[in-house]
Amino acid sequence: MSAIAIGNNVYWIGVKDPELPVFDIVMETKHGTTYNAYLVRGEKTAVIDTVKQGFTAEFLANVSSIVEPEKIDYLIVNHTEPDHAGAIVDLIELNPKIQIVCSGSALPFVKSTINREANVVAVKDDTVIDLGGKKLQFKIMPYMHWPDTMMEYLIEDRVLFSCDGFAAHVAGQSLFADELANKLASDGTPYDLDYEMRYYFDAIMRPFSGYIRRNMAKLESLEPALLATSHGPVYRRDVRRYIDRYKEWTVDKSDPRRVTLFYASNYGNTRRLADVLAQELGSSNFDVSLIDASTCKPEEAQDLIEASGAVIIGTPTFNGDAPKPIWDLVNLFSTVYSTGKKAAVFGSYGWGGEGSKMVAERLTGLKLKVFPEPFRARLIPSEEEITGARTFATELAQFFA
Ligand code: FEO
Repeated sequence: MSAIAIGNNVYWIGVKDPELPVFDIVMETKHGTTYNAYLVRGEKTAVIDTVKQGFTAEFLANVSSIVEPEKIDYLIVNHTEPDHAGAIVDLIELNPKIQIVCSGSALPFVKSTINREANVVAVKDDTVIDLGGKKLQFKIMPYMHWPDTMMEYLIEDRVLFSCDGFAAHVAGQSLFADELANKLASDGTPYDLDYEMRYYFDAIMRPFSGYIRRNMAKLESLEPALLATSHGPVYRRDVRRYIDRYKEWTVDKSDPRRVTLFYASNYGNTRRLADVLAQELGSSNFDVSLIDASTCKPEEAQDLIEASGAVIIGTPTFNGDAPKPIWDLVNLFSTVYSTGKKAAVFGSYGWGGEGSKMVAERLTGLKLKVFPEPFRARLIPSEEEITGARTFATELAQFFA
């Protein structure tokens, strides 16, 4: 695919990867993807991002169709994940004097990506680089998708180069969303670009919702006419609608008084403890939901985690471990924004009781604020242990407040 003009002296110089089956190990990409890079020409020339290794020759051919690589002044590195940084070294070899521009957080990542001396400068929020007739204004957007990520706004042409933000994994017959929406995918069905953007958000961006929520304020004053993402379509209609979708999806849904208590229980002993905790926390004015982890759908569990001010996990111990439904649940915490959320663990056990401790350690590792010691009761909880569970609930009420 050749370079495509997307504006006045603004070009797409990316590549398509239509056969890619999976992105970032976990995300199925049935429409493949694109690695979008851009070139802006004023009196000076800037290239915005590169492409994944393996597509370098096509990328450089696209660059060369517009300008000799040796004559590029700036290489804007919005993000150093290798799907965008894979051809930086090749470009530097052709043009060792090129000025690399990145965020402050990207500096060590750039260094570790290129592993050689280079001309690198960090920009800050609202730094402007004047290309001569075209000015790029930078917006530092941490965790969209890595800590290094930034975007830039081409002021004269009202183009927002948004990196992974608002992206979708689609390598279709057209670069432009409004044209692609009228095409059929390889399975004979129309592209659903709204779905693809949401799917991308859920898989890539959702764990960073808290950061994105704060970042979105930086785009409020901009009026982009063109949204040039790093993957999939370029949007030239209703651009604000797409930006506002991220605002909507990253609204803080958590209620500090809401507690979700997930449990797994084979013989009803962990469930018995769960009932006691729910009753006690309920009488302390917490809104407690009891959820069986072995039947709860992952999407429902994700929503519950996000909506809760605190999460409790009740797990028995099987074979020196927590059972699989509990680990499946725990694995969901890193797929949503759960950093700093309050949590606690309890459970019935037979002899070792390792399960609850392992779950507590894992939640701590995921940066939740976990009540220091899990509560455990042996086999069928005795009256004394039920009293202990009530005391535990009282301590949790203080911890969650
Ligand atoms: Fe498309 Fe986070 O790289």
